[in-house]
Amino acid sequence: MRTIISDAAIHWGKVAKEVADRVVRPLAQKYDRLQEYPWEIQKEVGAAGLFGVWIPKAYGGHGAGIVALCRVIEELSRACGGVGVLFAVNALGSFPVIIAGTEEQKQRFLPSIAAGKKLIAFCLSEKFAGSDAGGMRTRATKEANGEWVLRGEKKWTTNGGAADIYTVFAVSDPESKSRRISAFMVEKGMPGFSIGKVEDKMGIRAVPVVETHFDGVRCGDDRLLGGRPGMGFSHSMQTLDWARPGVAAQAVGLAQGALDYALLYATKRQQFGAPISSFQMIQEMLADMSAKVDAARWLVYAAASAVDEGDPNVTKLAAECKYFATEVAMDVTTKAVQIFGGYGYMRDYPIEKYMRDAKITQIYEGANQIQKMVIARNLIKEALQLDHLMKYIPQETQCDYAAEATAGA
Ligand code: CAA
Repeated sequence: MRTIISDAAIHWGKVAKEVADRVVRPLAQKYDRLQEYPWEIQKEVGAAGLFGVWIPKAYGGHGAGIVALCRVIEELSRACGGVGVLFAVNALGSFPVIIAGTEEQKQRFLPSIAAGKKLIAFCLSEKFAGSDAGGMRTRATKEANGEWVLRGEKKWTTNGGAADIYTVFAVSDPESKSRRISAFMVEKGMPGFSIGKVEDKMGIRAVPVVETHFDGVRCGDDRLLGGRPGMGFSHSMQTLDWARPGVAAQAVGLAQGALDYALLYATKRQQFGAPISSFQMIQEMLADMSAKVDAARWLVYAAASAVDEGDPNVTKLAAECKYFATEVAMDVTTKAVQIFGGYGYMRDYPIEKYMRDAKITQIYEGANQIQKMVIARNLIKEALQLDHLMKYIPQETQCDYAAEATAGA
């Protein structure tokens, strides 16, 4: 964690803030009502060069890294959570290519994403496989002519329909325990690929979330991610390690955006002959919100920095920031509605949307219960490095079951 926030991250954060204030904020309510993809916003985000932020320079991007990506997501989400995820999901979809793609696949798919000309989506979850991602049923069967045939359905495909490219995970070897799953690069228009149910959502309404159907989609080995079958699950998990700081950044942006409005409103709204910001109970809420937003923000930067530096501790940090920042977002956006009182509950005020948009961040890219499981699993591994402290703990509670079993045998 040497860098935390680079000059490039500061620069791209400023660019994103300018786009967010000029284009996103004025249109946020409109697309929340319409629940339509905001192409006019996507064009401006693309024109500002933001889709290239996380993509390496060799493939047409700016190579600015994951901290810079998080700064952009944060600023866009501060204006509209739906636009934050509309942008971030392109990083989620393209990370498998950056992490594991062949050189040919990187050259083929990444430059058009970096230029904002093509959008990408990530197809992992299914109806019967949400938290248990490895329990997926979509099948990839290799035929005698060497082609893979994809059959199955994916659920919660964010960006589905708008996206041109889909990173699709499927079971390629059902007999294998640890090499069951492979990823394939599918494109819009390929025979057998279609969009199913379009979801009607509580929040993040600017971005489509759909079912995707694969009814005999034929892929050559050139579309098999990395050119080797069986690596898909591990690549999906590594992708989530890279992407979870982005969800956490979305949560920080939402929390900050709600705090901005709540703070401003509290200084203007008068009750009992004084601005409500002069009352200690409102001050307590504002102080609590501000401290939590700052704590979440710096945990996000630390986790994103760990990705940029290839820190082996990244899985735990990514899960920690996703868990912590999204809980903060729900807490802070709910308090912001409370500060607005009855007006905060009304749809002609901007604040209730923040609360609706925040809720999903606790759920997608791994429900927070899964994040806590990941954190605990990694913590328990770290306990091995603490053995030297045992000499300070009285041994009376230590029972050696293995030794007892041997003695009893
Ligand atoms: N990096 C690399 N490899 C990893 C890994 C990581 N972080 N975590 C696990 N693996 C590997 C393991 O080493 C293991 O490999 P071997 O078989 O070779 O030993 C393999 O993956 C299986 O690991 P586990 O035994 O830990 O797997 P599990 O079945 O117990 O589940 C889990 C792990 C953490 C629960 C995982 O299933 C998970 O993260 N679930 C949540 C899924 C999720 O986040 N879904 C959201 C999808 S995206 C979305 O929300 C939609 C959208 O568009 C926004």
